[in-house]
Amino acid sequence: MHIQTQVQLKPFNTLNLDAIASHYTKITSTEDLLAALDFAEQQQLNILILSGGSNMLLPEHIHALVLHMDIQGIELLDGDDVQQRLKVGAGQIWHDFVLWTTKEQLYGLQNLALIPGLVGASPVQNIGAYGVEVGEFIDSVEVYDRKLKQFSAIAAKDCDFAYRHSIFKDDPNRYVITHVIFKLLKQAHLKLNYGDLKAAVADEQTAENLQRQVIHIRQSKLPNPQEYPNVGSFFKNPVLEQKVFDQIAQKFPQLPHYPQPNDHVKIAAGWLIDQSGWKGKQLGVVGMFHKQALVLVNYADASLKDVRATYRAVQQDVWNQFNIALEPEPVLFDEQGLIRSHQEN
Ligand code: EPU
Repeated sequence: MHIQTQVQLKPFNTLNLDAIASHYTKITSTEDLLAALDFAEQQQLNILILSGGSNMLLPEHIHALVLHMDIQGIELLDGDDVQQRLKVGAGQIWHDFVLWTTKEQLYGLQNLALIPGLVGASPVQNIGAYGVEVGEFIDSVEVYDRKLKQFSAIAAKDCDFAYRHSIFKDDPNRYVITHVIFKLLKQAHLKLNYGDLKAAVADEQTAENLQRQVIHIRQSKLPNPQEYPNVGSFFKNPVLEQKVFDQIAQKFPQLPHYPQPNDHVKIAAGWLIDQSGWKGKQLGVVGMFHKQALVLVNYADASLKDVRATYRAVQQDVWNQFNIALEPEPVLFDEQGLIRSHQEN
């Protein structure tokens, strides 16, 4: 383990924010992790876990030890006729892993192709797209538990997976994810309930084609972070109680919505932002993407302050027009490397 000081994190966060970390190290093994945690304890530093950097908002200076997760490896565990278990290092690139599963004829993750980031971050916000959430295909998550000071495996049923949510989000400082154990299917059961996808896959209903079409749809709507630095969807799609939704739908019958369990309805934040006039609009160097209003883009050297000014303006305009509060999806950090609330100034 090698600790570096004053490290620029700009290349490691997809919004390209300038962020200097006082301390930084790569974690390529569980031994590295233990040594780094010891160092942080001795130096009384908080730790900040950096994965693919595709869902984080960083301040310009961070006084903390950044752990850049880089544990590699894909290991086949047990399997039967129906499913195969796999152990995957937290540092594997998510999209490359999805492509690999399809090549190996292991099914389930194809709808999640081209999501940026690394495998270790996938359970944290239970990444989801086109009708699939990763939690459905996770068997367990291997972690170092900083509270109990031991390695352990948390079964999927105890991870509390829900829309963009898991226990890892609730208790961000407790667990460091080292590996994810997946359970993938040996036979493809294509999930085609998402509108655009159903039509696109109609002619050739194979997992390979499904993956190809997901990649195609994403590329046609979502900006490539290399060209337009972004963190994917910037806000969660609000989930409303049925009776609240019914009132809003009377006024705005075109509002795209998706029924949820327990009398709830999910509505499209992208549509609300679009209707509020923010699609393709900028405030200074930060704006909402012209092809998908849910994605915030850093068009030039924005600071966290610029980013916050823009998303707060979007929140305000959506509130004024629809009386709906949008909740940001990416995680906001303070100068001590700790997660902070989006509501604070
Ligand atoms: N819409 C507009 N204007 C816009 C954007 C969207 O009217 O500018 C409308 C669309 O026409 C559509 C609806 O809003 O009727 C939903 O749009 P879309 O299908 O693009 O999906 P989304 O709800 O905006 C969610 C996820 C995406 C995921 C897609 C596909 C969230 C926060 N976002 O977006 O996830 O890829 O569905 O499943 O749940 C991500 O989290 O980074 C991400 C890209």
